[in-house]
Amino acid sequence: MAKAKTAYVCTDCGAEHAKWQGSCAECGAWNTLSEIVLQPAAKSAGAARGGYAGKAAGAPKVTPLTEVAMTAEVRTLTGIGELDRVLGGGLVDGSVVLVGGDPGIGKSTLLLQMLGTLGAQLPSVYVTGEESLAQVAARAQRLGLPLAPLQALAETCIERILDQAASARPRVLVIDSIQTIWTELLTAAPGSVSQVRESAARLTRFAKETGTSVFLVGHVTKEGGIAGPRVLEHMVDAVLYFEGESGSRFRVLRAFKNRFGAVNELGVFAMGDKGLREVPNPSAIFLSAHAGPTPGSAVMVTREGTRPLLVEVQALVDQSSLGNPRRVALGLEQNRLAMLLAVLHRHGGVAAYDQDVFINVVGGIRVQETAADLPALLAVLSSLRDRPLPEKTVAFGEVGLSGEIRPVPNGEERLKEAAHHGFRRAIVPRANAPKSGRVGDLEVVGVERLGQAIDACR
Ligand code: TYD
Ligand code: MG
Repeated sequence: MAKAKTAYVCTDCGAEHAKWQGSCAECGAWNTLSEIVLQPAAKSAGAARGGYAGKAAGAPKVTPLTEVAMTAEVRTLTGIGELDRVLGGGLVDGSVVLVGGDPGIGKSTLLLQMLGTLGAQLPSVYVTGEESLAQVAARAQRLGLPLAPLQALAETCIERILDQAASARPRVLVIDSIQTIWTELLTAAPGSVSQVRESAARLTRFAKETGTSVFLVGHVTKEGGIAGPRVLEHMVDAVLYFEGESGSRFRVLRAFKNRFGAVNELGVFAMGDKGLREVPNPSAIFLSAHAGPTPGSAVMVTREGTRPLLVEVQALVDQSSLGNPRRVALGLEQNRLAMLLAVLHRHGGVAAYDQDVFINVVGGIRVQETAADLPALLAVLSSLRDRPLPEKTVAFGEVGLSGEIRPVPNGEERLKEAAHHGFRRAIVPRANAPKSGRVGDLEVVGVERLGQAIDACR
């Protein structure tokens, strides 16, 4: 009898290795390789992949794109505007969407609410591997959803789920969560990379073959990746990620990957006693309410997705007792902070090498664009000097390694938003400043070098 073929898969990044080794050759993680059994490829798939596939009937041929029959993607509005926005304008038939986030952030709530608002429009099945049917029903009732169109299945075996789905013929299938799902083909424990990967592959195939839209809920590891299997991100059409602070009621849903729309689009929700409520006009919710000017606080205008948002960055700079002072950035990129501090020293003449520097973006939102550089630096400077920035001031701009302040996209729109919220002064890259130096009541100070920005804060 032929020996079953096995391979070794890294449980962190999903890279496959032929032999066991101590560390993963892809991501360098130690002791993460686990053995999986490789399934023999199906006959037809094998033929199509072989060099002489042309002989097989119905094998794929090279085709000019002009001759490809295009089918317009069918989109359905879910009834939750912020979710539709993140999905790129509604739910696409046959798409597979991965929804990730920390436990308790509201993934199950959002998806259940979505099925509720889709209602009878698209028949759906909610597969729960974590909660009992009674719990799901109780939650749906508490959320005030119409129970009649909601169907649920408490099952974790992928074969049985697909059997049920084949007979129930839903148009939307929610799997909560993918980490609880397992296949009979593999002996590995549920939640292991091989189980998750195989189950997700089966669900993806099901989605493409039947045109069912599939939502996969994925838990997040402490490192912030969608648990172990980064592989999932390659297999699905869209990856949505829930962010937010546990103390805050605001939740941000962000598209990290979307084959049918823009990435980095944000949807903003507030968690209340009736579940998640949309916040259609979120521009000022990430400002904390200070009684007066506070040292170490700066307000920036970020433009994540297609809307400008006013966000507060806080910094705390404190004498370090460590030989290697701490640099901690929450909501901003850690390496960027180290770089900014070096620029502040070389080009601003302000040393922070003996100081611990902590930076936090209010509201648990993550800001990825470089426009956050200047406000982050100003917050650091303000904390270091224990002097608040001038009242009602906003800032944005990228800081370059030679101390120059570089322009960022959509400057005018950001300034308008700041003026709209009653800010009086904006410190921005010169190229983003209007010639008149004003936008409404907002005085715009254009700066070219870091030194000018520091001067503008006096
Ligand atoms: P849940 O959707 O279960 O989170 P996840 O599936 O991402 O783990 O969210 C549960 C949290 O939300 C829980 O801490 C309670 C809170 N919550 C409300 O505040 N209001 C509500 O109406 C619901 C349903 C949950
Ligand atoms: Mg849940």
